[in-house]
Amino acid sequence: MPALESISGGQIPGGDWIDRLVAAHRPGMGLARDFYAHPEIYERDLDRVFRRHWHCIAHESVIPNPNDFELFRLATEQVILTRDSSGEIHALLNICRHRGAEVCTAQKGNAKAFICPYHAWTYGNDGRLKAARLMPKEFKREDHGLRKLHVRVVEGLVFISFADDPLDFTEVERLLRATIGQYGWGQARVAHREAYVIEANWKLAVENYVECYHCGPAHPEYSQTHALEQPLERIADMNAAMEARTCALGIEIGQGDLWQTSRAGGEAIHAFRYALYDGVCTGSEDGTPLAPPMGRFETFDGGVTSIHLGGTTFLVCYPDHGMIYRFIPTGPDSSEMELIWLVDAKAEAGRDYDHARLTWLWTVTTEEDKKIIEHTARGVRSKYFVPGPIAPMEQNELRYINWYLDEIARP
Ligand code: FES
Ligand SMILES: [Fe+2]
Repeated sequence: MPALESISGGQIPGGDWIDRLVAAHRPGMGLARDFYAHPEIYERDLDRVFRRHWHCIAHESVIPNPNDFELFRLATEQVILTRDSSGEIHALLNICRHRGAEVCTAQKGNAKAFICPYHAWTYGNDGRLKAARLMPKEFKREDHGLRKLHVRVVEGLVFISFADDPLDFTEVERLLRATIGQYGWGQARVAHREAYVIEANWKLAVENYVECYHCGPAHPEYSQTHALEQPLERIADMNAAMEARTCALGIEIGQGDLWQTSRAGGEAIHAFRYALYDGVCTGSEDGTPLAPPMGRFETFDGGVTSIHLGGTTFLVCYPDHGMIYRFIPTGPDSSEMELIWLVDAKAEAGRDYDHARLTWLWTVTTEEDKKIIEHTARGVRSKYFVPGPIAPMEQNELRYINWYLDEIARP
């Protein structure tokens, strides 16, 4: 079979029908229908994106004490996130090394060990197999611990990778310290979490997240405070004034575009800043502060830092609270989106912030997003759907599509 040309110009030797579909992609257009529904493409997504890239799984404050744990479900996998008695964090696959039963059956708790409900093999919260009853003398417990994923904890965020040889995370760590580090996320705690079930392929949810072309028509609440609803060239002066205010506060917040495919061996990250409209302090209904300023902020600069990381992790930093958006594939045409609200660890609900005010903006915005993503999922299911051109304001979506195609085109 002749070699096929990938969207990035590389050769795909041989290639299957998915590679041919990737090669047939028309630059500047959206993805074809099969990318949003076909089970084989979904399996390829899991192999090439989900199991290759880093994902933020949680803020470490969800397991604050020694021996705390929480169970996370991601696609077909279950991960037990634990903090062992020495404080170290582990991500363990919830699959017994005997005959594969789920070892941890509680959603959350505090435990020094997990006892498999089937034949009672007992694992420490660092994954080591501590006991396996009635096994022969030659059985080696040390060879049968729970499988451990790679873990990095950066400024309070816990990242996991399923890959045997994970993508280099050094530059990502550096940029996270220069961004969320300045916003004090390492000293934050989770104020609220909300999971949304989306009846759409995970890529429709991510593509919707990365572009703000839809913000004007779909998000009237967001658009009355956030200048990102306009093209970047129109808000350049506003952004420059915001950067000057940040500088005047003596704060240096990093920005950087290290968006790259895994061909380069490193994880992709892009951090950028944009202004809120005049007089707006944060992502609240009336623009007034929601919570005590975090990290290096003592007051408000009228800016937001936005971070895109790998295929599924997105972060938004306001001076008084932070947002984590996790996109989780759950099937060819279903996904989940978890929103996590962060505040300073010392801030108390009722005293320092009002819970309903804090969560208002991204609750209404995500409910609106869920609807439009699901409208789109139903539309693209039609056999008459032909992808149209990506608009200039959707440049991040275009970049995401190209990145995605490159990822799945390569073994
Ligand atoms: S499957 Fe877990 S002990 Fe047998
Ligand atoms: Fe949206």
